[in-house]
Amino acid sequence: MDGNGRWAQQRSLPRTAGHRAAETAVIDVIEAARSAGVEWLSLYAFSTENWNRPGAEVEFLMRLVRRVVRKHAPLLLARGIRCRFLGVADPRIPRELAQDFDDLAVLTADNRGMTLTVAFDHGGRRDIVEAARSLIRSGTPADEVTERIFADHLPFPDTPDVDLVIRTSGEQRISNFMLWQVAYAEWVFPEVLWPEFRAPDFLACLHTYRRRDRRFGGVPARTNGDPS
Ligand code: IPE
Ligand code: MG
Repeated sequence: MDGNGRWAQQRSLPRTAGHRAAETAVIDVIEAARSAGVEWLSLYAFSTENWNRPGAEVEFLMRLVRRVVRKHAPLLLARGIRCRFLGVADPRIPRELAQDFDDLAVLTADNRGMTLTVAFDHGGRRDIVEAARSLIRSGTPADEVTERIFADHLPFPDTPDVDLVIRTSGEQRISNFMLWQVAYAEWVFPEVLWPEFRAPDFLACLHTYRRRDRRFGGVPARTNGDPS
C-alpha cells in the first residue's frame, strides 16, 4: 500500500494526512476482494524497515492502525473474514496494539469467508531466518530438508504461495515482502497512489492477472505436446 506520503505532499498536507486517507482504500479493497471471491488477501501495512521513519510518523501509524482495527472489527466479523497479523515481533509495538491484533485474530478465527493477513512489522528475510532457526531447533537432519519442510517452519505455513502482488504508486520493488511466498507471483504496478485506490482499481488488477499466462518455468500449454 504505497503512495500515502506523496498523496499528502501533492496537497501540501503532512504525510500523516496521507496515512489517514488510506483507511478508505483499505476497507474498499477488503470488501472488493471478498465480493470477488478472493480467498487470501494480504495487506503490507508496516515493514521492518519502516522503523527508520521519523518517530512521530511511526507513532502516528501505530495509533492509526489501532483505531482502524478497533473500528472495523465488527465489519470484518460480519463479512466472515478471518484476520491474522504477520510479523508483530518488535518490542517497540505498543502493547495495546499487539493486544488488539490478538483480540481481532481470536474474534475472527472461525471465519472462513476470506483470510486477511495484515503484514505489520513484517520482513521477508526475518521470516526466513526465523524459519531456519525453527528448523534447526527441530533437529531435522540437513539431508532431509526439502522446500516443503522448510516452508512448514515459516509463520502461517498454511498460507498458499502468492499469486498476485499489487504495488500502488508506480514504485517497482519487492521491499522485503513475503520473499519466500512470492517466488512465482505475478506483479502489477498501478500508478495510482494508495489513498486513491478503490474497488474498480483492484478489479482492474485482477483482470490483468487473469490475462497473464502463468507457466511456472514450463512452456505454453498449446505447445507442450498435449493432444487435447
Ligand atoms: C504508505 O505509503 C506505506 C506505509 C509504510 C504506511 P508511504 O508512506 O510509503 O508513501 P510515499 O512512498 O512516501 O508516497
Ligand atoms: Mg513509500
